[in-house]
Amino acid sequence: MIKREEILTLVLSVLNTIVEEWGEDVDSAFNEQTLLVEDVGFASIDFVQFVVAIEEGLGQKIGFQDMLMVDGNYVEDLSVENVVDYIASRLIASVNEPFEATTSHTERDSIEKIHSIPDSEKVNNEKFNLFTSILKPRNSRVVSTEHKNRPAVFVLSPPRSGSTLLRVMLAGNPQLFSPPELHLLSYADMAERYEALNDDHNNHLLEGTVRALMQIKGWDGPTARDFIDRCQDQVMSTNEFYAILQDGLGDRLLVDKTPTYVVDKKILNHALEDFENAYFIHLLRHPCGMIRSYEESKLSRMMPMMNASDFSSRELAEMTWLLSQRNTLDFLSTVPQNRKLRLSYEDIVVSPEQEMQRVCNFLNIDFHIDMITPYSEKDNKMTDGVDTASRMSGDLKFHLHKTIDPAAAVRWQQFYSDEILSDMTHELCKTCGY
Ligand code: A3P
Repeated sequence: MIKREEILTLVLSVLNTIVEEWGEDVDSAFNEQTLLVEDVGFASIDFVQFVVAIEEGLGQKIGFQDMLMVDGNYVEDLSVENVVDYIASRLIASVNEPFEATTSHTERDSIEKIHSIPDSEKVNNEKFNLFTSILKPRNSRVVSTEHKNRPAVFVLSPPRSGSTLLRVMLAGNPQLFSPPELHLLSYADMAERYEALNDDHNNHLLEGTVRALMQIKGWDGPTARDFIDRCQDQVMSTNEFYAILQDGLGDRLLVDKTPTYVVDKKILNHALEDFENAYFIHLLRHPCGMIRSYEESKLSRMMPMMNASDFSSRELAEMTWLLSQRNTLDFLSTVPQNRKLRLSYEDIVVSPEQEMQRVCNFLNIDFHIDMITPYSEKDNKMTDGVDTASRMSGDLKFHLHKTIDPAAAVRWQQFYSDEILSDMTHELCKTCGY
C-alpha cells in the first residue's frame, strides 16, 4: 500500500506541473496547507486536470466525485491536505469495496451485475403517482403572447443523458450559440427565477446566463452579474431576456439545453408561446444508462423534496426518465415534423459525425468539424466556469473524458440487466426505439 508521504509527493508534483504549464508568476512553495482556489488560483477546469493527472500518477481510478461534491454542491475550496487525506481514505476503501464514480479495470472485475430485482423494489403506478405529486411542478408563470422571439433550439432530455456533451458539440458550430444551461423558460420573469434558484442546492444554475452574456457581450463575470441583477430588479420577463441574448447573436441560432424543462409540459409549451417556430431536439438515452449515471453522480441529493420519501436513487432516476419521456413525447406530438428531431446518446457517441450531420440538415446549417471535437476551443464552447473561484458548471464527467467515448454507450450493461425496469418503462422503451 502506498504511504501517505508518497501520496503527498505525488499531489505536490502534479500541482507544480500544472502551475508550471501556466507559465505565470505564482509562488509555488506549496505545502499541505496550500488552498487550491485561494492560494493557487484553481478554476473548475484545473481541478479536472489535477484529478486526472493524480489518477494517472497512481495508475488507478480514485473517483473524486465525493471529494469535489458535498451534499449536492461543489466545494468552494480544498487544501492539499484534504486531497491527500481523501486519496488515502479511498485507497484504503478500495481494498474492501470498488469505487463508484468511474470505471477502471479493477472495478469492472469486482462489480456484480444486477440481473433482476424483486417486484416490490420496482417502480409501479402507485410510486410514480407519489413521485409526481411530490414534484408538484410550480408554475405561476403567465405567458405573454404579445411578443414572440425569433427561432431558437431546445434540447429536451432528463439529466444524465449526455446533454452536456451534445450541448458542447452544438457549440462547435459557428452558426449556433449553445451556452451552459439557461434555466429561463420555467419562469415568468428574472425575479421569480432568482427567487426559485437562489439556494444552496440550485444557485449554480444561475450561472449559465452569466456565462452566455460574457460570451455575447465580451463582459467579465462581475459585469454580466450586475446586468442580470438589474434585470431581476426590473422584474424583466424571461421572454425579454431571451430577446437580449438573441439580439447579440447576429444570424446564430440560440440553443437552450436545460434538463429541468421536461419535468413539466407547461414549461415545454412556453417554448411554443415565446418563440416563432422553435426547434426541438429530443435527446434519448437508454433508461438503464441514465439510471446508472444518476446513481453515480448522486443526483438524488439535488432533489431535497424527495428526502422524506423512501425512494431509492435508482427509483428516482427511473421515474425521472419516465416522466421526462412521457412529457416530451406528449408535447412533441403537437409539434410539426420539420421542427423536431430525435437523437440518442448512444448514436452520438458511436457515430458523432453522422449524428451531427443529421442535426445540421434538420437546422438547415452547414456541418462544422469542431462539432465532433468537443474538447478543442474551450472558450468558444463555454466549458469553463464564470470566474476563477466559481463552482463547476454542467456535467463534471464531461471534463473527465478526453474524447467522445463510444464505450460509454453500453457501460451500464456491466452493472444492470434491463430486467430491473418496470413494465411502464419497458413499454415506453419500445416507443423510444430501445
Ligand atoms: P455516465 O455517467 O454514464 O458516464 P448529462 O450531461 O446529460 O448530465 O449526461 C452525463 C453523461 O454524459 C455521463 O454519463 C457522462 O460520462 C456522459 N459524457 C459526457 N461527456 C462524454 C464524452 N466525451 N463521451 C461519452 N460520454 C460522455
